[in-house]
Amino acid sequence: MHLTKEEEQTLNGEDGETLQKAIEILVALGDIYGADRLIPIKSAQIAGVSYKTIGDAGLEWISDLEGKVKVPSILNPAGMDLKLWDEMGISPQFAQKQHEIIKAYEKLGVTSKCTCTPYYLDNFTLGYGDHVAWSESSAVSYVNSVIGARTNREGGPSALSAALVGKTANFGYHLDENREPTISVTVECNLSGADYAALGYIAGKTVGSKVPLFFLQNEPEGDELKALGAAMAASGAVALYHVDSVTPDARRMKFEKTDENIIIEESQIREVYDKIPDNTAQTDVDMVAFGCPHCSADELAHIARLLDGKQVEKDVWVCTSREIAERYPQFVDKIEKSGALVVCDTCMVVSPASENYNLMMVNSGKALSYVPSMCKVPARFGSIEECINEALRA
Ligand code: F3S
Repeated sequence: MHLTKEEEQTLNGEDGETLQKAIEILVALGDIYGADRLIPIKSAQIAGVSYKTIGDAGLEWISDLEGKVKVPSILNPAGMDLKLWDEMGISPQFAQKQHEIIKAYEKLGVTSKCTCTPYYLDNFTLGYGDHVAWSESSAVSYVNSVIGARTNREGGPSALSAALVGKTANFGYHLDENREPTISVTVECNLSGADYAALGYIAGKTVGSKVPLFFLQNEPEGDELKALGAAMAASGAVALYHVDSVTPDARRMKFEKTDENIIIEESQIREVYDKIPDNTAQTDVDMVAFGCPHCSADELAHIARLLDGKQVEKDVWVCTSREIAERYPQFVDKIEKSGALVVCDTCMVVSPASENYNLMMVNSGKALSYVPSMCKVPARFGSIEECINEALRA
């Protein structure tokens, strides 16, 4: 791997121990994956924030680092709403540790907003072809597929290293040759809304870490693409997908159908909605959760319209970034008047507060994959409207 004189100096420790450690991580990854050099990045998004997932060892590692990040850098969701943690049922001990983690990142110059949809925020919007180092899997999928910017699926330490150095190693999805589709997926029915999350949930299981090229009957919108990518990143390991004639790489490069093609039928999509998790036939849904990935302004507006003037009978979380919540107080107000909670900085998967429920209903294919494994709570799937109806049912 070719390094510039300045990069060599950093590697030799001349810029301090933290930067030396950071560039060592980037160079090691570059060597493993055959990168030719380091390339500048526009921003970084760093996973490894929830105290539930990183624990004391993670806190200690971050606290020992020194210096400042060189590019705008932002955090993945934490284990709690940084303001409403008490209302969520989070213990003071957990809250204290979580705040210490946030402070340790702030000391490094990382923006302490915690979201998996930073692409909605002013400092983190991206354009076609931009190179970044982001780590949350749905955000990675959105960056690569929907925006046409470029990132590998970074781990927390490699994203933080890239943020400190301002560069990442040039391999994987940063290179044209790895962005070509390797499997085609033909969908034989019309889709709308949460159907895209159901499609991603099914497709991810089959395509694994390949790069799928979808042939769809309809043209999905941004939030539908977000849901599709998030679900595939969770049920499989998809970091980049294309939709024929829709997503930016597919529009520019006019990909042909690949030799390997799978077909998805309407009955498979229906099965995701109809599935009742094992041993829950007699169990009532006691939590309904939206916002995996974090809600956009449109999704917040949609939920607010559906809840306007009504009262929920179950615990309802609507997860979004604090910035989106603060930009649209009119939607937050309507949602909260119904008894639902707008939860910022965290989500139903990474917060320990969601572990206290018996059965969760979600409109997200990613949450459907992760809530049972990470929170040990069985989950059912429905459209936004079906989830709201469940929330209103006594
Ligand atoms: Fe985001 Fe949490 Fe889902 S981080 S993508 S809301 S699991």
